[in-house]
Formats: sequence, structure tokens, C-alpha cells
Amino acid sequence: MATHPAIVTTTASAPLKLQNVPTVVPKSGEVRVRVDWTMTAAFDLHQADGGLLVSHGVLGSCFAGIIVEASPDVDTAKLRIGDKVFGYGFQDQQTRAYQLYVTISAHMCGKIPSNVTPQEAVTVPDSLITAVHTLSYSLRLPLQWPVPASPSPSTKTPILVWGGSSSSGHAILQVLKHWGYTNIIATSSPQHHELLKVLGATKVFDYRDEKIVENIKNAGRSLSGNTQGPAVPLIVDSIGSVSGSLAPISAIASTGTRVAVLLPVLIRAPSVKGPPEYAMDVKLMAKWQDGVEVEGVRTHFYMENEALKERLQSEMLPELVRTGAIRPIRQRLITGSTMLERAESALQAWREGVSGERLVWRVSGEGS
Ligand SMILES: NC(=O)c1ccc[n+]([C@@H]2O[C@H](COP(=O)([O-])OP(=O)(O)OC[C@H]3O[C@@H](n4cnc5c(N)ncnc54)[C@H](OP(=O)(O)O)[C@@H]3O)[C@@H](O)[C@H]2O)c1
Repeated sequence: MATHPAIVTTTASAPLKLQNVPTVVPKSGEVRVRVDWTMTAAFDLHQADGGLLVSHGVLGSCFAGIIVEASPDVDTAKLRIGDKVFGYGFQDQQTRAYQLYVTISAHMCGKIPSNVTPQEAVTVPDSLITAVHTLSYSLRLPLQWPVPASPSPSTKTPILVWGGSSSSGHAILQVLKHWGYTNIIATSSPQHHELLKVLGATKVFDYRDEKIVENIKNAGRSLSGNTQGPAVPLIVDSIGSVSGSLAPISAIASTGTRVAVLLPVLIRAPSVKGPPEYAMDVKLMAKWQDGVEVEGVRTHFYMENEALKERLQSEMLPELVRTGAIRPIRQRLITGSTMLERAESALQAWREGVSGERLVWRVSGEGS
């Protein structure tokens, strides 16, 4: 059996390992992609440092590369050998990104549009999928595709994106803007405020400001003009930190507010200071007022929506990037002489801190 190198995690906080794994021949509807680029995200740290949801060892989710093999029944009008593609794989060992080849359903790949490089493209898939799933499933916003010419009146409802400079926050702001939302409040460090306005935020606040709760409530009221009901009816927490986001958000939310929190809840985030600690029940992690609807988000379930399963990665992702509706996130290139070294260095860079950026690195030595 043919094999190829992959980066695996064995036990929480242990060094990563380079291991040969089977190179899987595509079954019906699948393609095999040579992975040229990947990126390191928080979920990789949750797995490598926290042992969270590790069912098999290979890490990584976003990939950009080239199709080298395809099942005969894959529609060649859509994808063919030699196409440059990007996508988000998470289901099992053969679809994870820290390996030379992923074998994955064709509907989980989109063609990389010519206005971005593979290195830029790899920063987008998980964030966009998280944004669309969170807003459409957890907040129940009607994100029609293709985007209707005239937005619905509900697009004026104030919505808070806590953590606008996170990778998910970037995509959530841009998706809201693209679908016509006009009253968007976002938080980040001050150095990202101008970018967040370009991405779609109407008002931006420093989350470290001691008056943050009051400032956001006032902003919500002034944007809607309503003195009754919740100041901010819709909230996305794209950080999920008990002290850093859930505490202030639970003070902002009131009866009638719908809150979506990206899981896991971070009791202690992965960092150089020590091992992380997580919780999964958002309702228990803050003092919520009666009548606040709170839900934890897991992007891995986006494929329960058949339309998104078929179209989100294959069609919406490339089209939104091609038109510039979704921009690549700023990249920090992680180098190293081996794949293992690059994977370890990227994890360490994340532990030391990321701010409005993606940690991207080469997997294969080929492609551009
Ligand atoms: N459940 C799911 O489906 C799902 C999907 C995607 C992500 N997530 C989770 O969501 C979290 C964020 O992931 P990500 O990849 O989007 O993040 P990321 O890009 O790694 O986040 C880095 C950003 O977080 C911001 N930040 C840190 N603490 C903050 C706080 N207390 N308030 C506001 N902003 C804060 C920093 O902002 P400044 O630089 O501006 O200070 C920084 O730009 C991770 O725990 C991840 O696992 C979950």
C-alpha cells in the first residue's frame, strides 16, 4: 500500500510526530489533492495541547493544493486533475490537512480563483464555513444564495461580533456585510479597528475598555433607535472565553437576545503559560438573564444542511473569494526545514499569540 507523511498528535502536550499514513485511492465522488499549503488554527492547539476531540491522530483542516487523482464519476465540468483547489477537511484521517495527500469528497473542494494565491486561499475556508453556519443555523439569519438584490428589513437589526479580529470574526463581518447587514458592532484591539470597518463593522470598540458593556449597549440602542427590548438582539462570540468574552456578553444580553458562542468555551486558552482547560456547556459558563437564548456552535455539523453541504465549499467559497466579498486573512509565513519543524513552529507561534493573522506553512515542496 502506498503511504505518505502526515503530522499526528499522540497525547495532549506531547511533541507532534511525523508518521506515514495510507494514501487513499478516491472512491465514488472523491478526489485526491496534493496539499501544498496549510495553516495552523486554534482547533489544532485544542487537539495538540488539550487533547480535545482527537479521534485519530492527523491534525489540520484547511488545505490548498492540486488535484492529482479523481474518481471517474467526478463531474469534470466542475473539477478535474490539475485543478488548484482549497477546502476544509475534518471528518476523518484521510481528510485532515497536515499530510501530503488528502482524499476528500469533491463537494468539499473549491477551485482557487485567479485573484488569490494558494497561500492566501488557505486562510479562508474554515472561517467562511464557520461564519455561514453560525449565522444561518445558530442565529437563524436567512442567508440566501445567490444573495438577493434587495436585503430584507431584518438586516438593520443590531448585531455584535465579539472578537472581530479573530479569523472567524473576519469572515463573520464580511458575510454580514455581503448579505446587507448594516448595523454591526465589533470588538478588537484598537490596531484592527480600521480594518474591521472596511470588513463591515459600523461601530468598533476595544474589548479591554472597562466601559465596554455600557458602550456596546449604547451603540445598539443608537443604531436601532429602540429604547425597548434588548439593546443588542443578536450576538456572535467568536472567542468563547469565560472571562474575556462570555462575562461581558452575558452583561450585554437581555431577554430576547440570541447568542451564538464558538465552542469550545475557554476556561484557560492554549498558551505558553500551560495546558488549556475547556468546557462545552455555554449555558453554565456565565450568568445569563432569563429569556436569553444561548447556543454553542460546532461548524463540523454544517453538512446537516444539504444545500450547504453541496454548495458551500464547492461553489460559494470560490465565488465569494473571486468577487472580493471575502478577503484572505493577513498571513504570517512559518518556515522550517521539515514538515514536522514547520508544524511544531506554527503551534508554538500560536501559543505565543496571534493577532489578526493566519499562520500559514508549506506541506509539499511543490506548487506555488
Ligand atoms: N466551534 C466551532 O465551530 C469553531 C469554529 C472556528 C473557531 N472556533 C473557536 O473560536 C476561537 C477563535 O478561533 P479563530 O481561529 O477565529 O481565532 P484566532 O484568529 O486564532 O483569534 C485570534 C484573535 O483573538 C482575539 N481575541 C483574543 N481574546 C479576545 C477577547 N477576550 N475578546 C476579543 N477578541 C479577543 C485577538 O484579538 P486582538 O488581536 O484584536 O487583541 C486575536 O486577533 C477558538 O477557540 C476556535 O477554536 C470554533
